[in-house]
Amino acid sequence: MSTLRLENIELYYNRVHALRDLSIEVNEGEIVSLLGNNGAGKTSTLSMLSGLVRPKSGTAMWGDLDLTKLNPWDLVDAGLIHVPEGRRILSTMTVHENLLLGGYLVKDQNLIDERVAYAYELMPRLLERKTQQGGTLSGGEQQMLAIGRALVSGPKLLLLDEPSMGLAPLIVRQVMDIVRTVAEQGTTVLLVEQNAKAALKIADRAYVLESGHVTLSGPAAELADDPKVIAAYLGT
Ligand SMILES: Nc1ncnc2c1ncn2[C@@H]1O[C@H](COP(=O)(O)OP(=O)(O)O)[C@@H](O)[C@H]1O
Ligand SMILES: [Mg+2]
Repeated sequence: MSTLRLENIELYYNRVHALRDLSIEVNEGEIVSLLGNNGAGKTSTLSMLSGLVRPKSGTAMWGDLDLTKLNPWDLVDAGLIHVPEGRRILSTMTVHENLLLGGYLVKDQNLIDERVAYAYELMPRLLERKTQQGGTLSGGEQQMLAIGRALVSGPKLLLLDEPSMGLAPLIVRQVMDIVRTVAEQGTTVLLVEQNAKAALKIADRAYVLESGHVTLSGPAAELADDPKVIAAYLGT
């Protein structure tokens, strides 16, 4: 079992103390959500997990892999795939070319073809827009494309940074359904969201982050009923 375990992480950007004694755990097969407002440290957590920034202290292990030591490309090769905030698809490349980019470290062409086919099966709207330029897609379709590209990389652990950002509620639901299906197919998911309501609907467990520190955690259903969470994150 490859559990992701962060313990006592301290992370700084020069003098900005972005993560404070952060400890979280994600078990294989779970959808775990990391909730918090702007500036809480959600993106920093994902950047650290994918080797883009290094903590000052603390441990981050995924199974027996030390995430604080490995390079980003080695982590991708191991199946740790990060879908960054703001999707970052390539706007002048077609949908199909964007999907193929996900396979840049995959040597087996048949495997790439299979995964692309799966992405189209899961998200038929991408298939309908196969030859369209990425930049001409709607926000929701761009998010689907970013997820599709990640699927072509073969994620065992998928890190999603605010997939619902800027999307209409109906589209948020569609994207969350896709995330849930991906998880049901055997991918572990760490879902970063400001949209607590949408995330808690599909997550097994969640952590609430404030100023880089976990202030609340538990099963998603319990957090969704927690008065503190309702007051701060779920509105009325
Ligand atoms: N590259 C950076 N340089 C300096 N400070 C940063 C940088 N990235 C993030 N921060 C700061 O770290 C804190 C956490 O930011 P971030 O992880 O982006 O939060 P979130 O994703 O939850 O909005 C914020 O105070 C933010 O201003
Ligand atoms: Mg962020």
